[in-house]
Amino acid sequence: MEFYDAVNGRRSVRDFTDEAIPEAKMKRIIEAAYKAPANDHFRDWHFIVVTDPDIKRDLLGGVPKNLTEKDVDQMTFISDPVQKESYRVAVPKQYRMLCDTAAVIVPLMKKKADILHPANLSDLNCYASVWCSIENLWLAAVAEGYGCNLRIPWGEEEAVAQKVLGFPDGYLIPCFIGIGRPAPDAVLTKQIDLHLDELIHWEKF
Ligand SMILES: Cc1cc2nc3c(=O)[nH]c(=O)nc-3n(C[C@H](O)[C@H](O)[C@H](O)COP(=O)(O)O)c2cc1C
Repeated sequence: MEFYDAVNGRRSVRDFTDEAIPEAKMKRIIEAAYKAPANDHFRDWHFIVVTDPDIKRDLLGGVPKNLTEKDVDQMTFISDPVQKESYRVAVPKQYRMLCDTAAVIVPLMKKKADILHPANLSDLNCYASVWCSIENLWLAAVAEGYGCNLRIPWGEEEAVAQKVLGFPDGYLIPCFIGIGRPAPDAVLTKQIDLHLDELIHWEKF
């Protein structure tokens, strides 16, 4: 697939078929993550691929299962109608979009600074770098014909996942990644119209 086809075709997919992903393809997708830039040259990220339904269920034990559109209506920070509609699609699927797919990939980032209380912007470099790797992974998945979604762990979700996956202290899960073959009727949320000629500036703002 052409690079721009992958970029333009990348969407958050939250509905999947039950097709498994061959290990060789999964490896290729994750290898793309390690081609991302990294702040300190180490790229000391880990990716745990979970396909076993029992482990997946336990791993996602902290993710809310019964959220509805009504919960979205209570979210006072949402003002834009297109944004609201996208939350109405996404929020009720947070558990299923991870559990009912071929695999959940759990990236792990080594905590090298207190990223919740950074003294300088550069304290967030390790977090920024792992996100570069996640985007590479996502685009590689699209190039292979798969789709992804992601969820930021909330509350106890990370602790539950650590217990189930058994990774040592000192690592952070930036997000859970659901990956699989998009269902033919997968719902893609409407995008907010961007006027790039107002956002891209030449020489000065
Ligand atoms: C940092 C970050 C956090 C996100 N968190 C979530 C999430 O918790 N749950 C979810 O369903 N999607 C999440 N998303 C996906 C966004 O909802 C999605 O990218 C956005 O609505 C644009 O839609 P698109 O990916 O289809 O272009 C997140 C994306 C980013 C970059």
